Amino acid sequence: MISEKMEKAINDQINAEMWSAYLYLSMSAYFLDQNLSGFANWMKVQYQEEVSHAMKFFGYLAERGGRVTLKPISEVPVEWSGPVEIFEETLKHERHVTSLINNLMNIAFDERDHASVSFLQWFIDEQVEEESNADEILKQLRMIGDQKHGIFFLDRELGSRTFVDSTQSE
Ligand code: FEO
Repeated sequence: MISEKMEKAINDQINAEMWSAYLYLSMSAYFLDQNLSGFANWMKVQYQEEVSHAMKFFGYLAERGGRVTLKPISEVPVEWSGPVEIFEETLKHERHVTSLINNLMNIAFDERDHASVSFLQWFIDEQVEEESNADEILKQLRMIGDQKHGIFFLDRELGSRTFVDSTQSE
């Protein structure tokens, strides 16, 4: 049985992951409107990843005998000035998510909940990749600046990203 404190923290994280999914889907819609279908694809895959993160927490909480309780998803932004601002926001958001995961890990330690410590390690590792992915694209965008052909080639590259459900890989 999982502690009430851990149960609440995981339910909050399910909501945070769903909010992240909604944020990236909103960014995907923005890019579609800008005729940047590769960027839109990258964000749609990001949305799918976030749903899979929420479902990993969902499955774990249920498995531990906890009660999953879904809360409303707050409104997300819908407008940005362009790709650079979007990837700045993405990197900032992923750093925030990393701090949320670190807090969850701290709670698991405080509660002496070793199963949750073990479970959360996957998310600690995942966040390293999440921050690195956003940072890499942001750096490329800053290098490209206003060069339209650079944006065109990056759009083509981001269009090849496909969703692989890494939460199922172990
Ligand atoms: Fe669920 Fe992007 O971290």
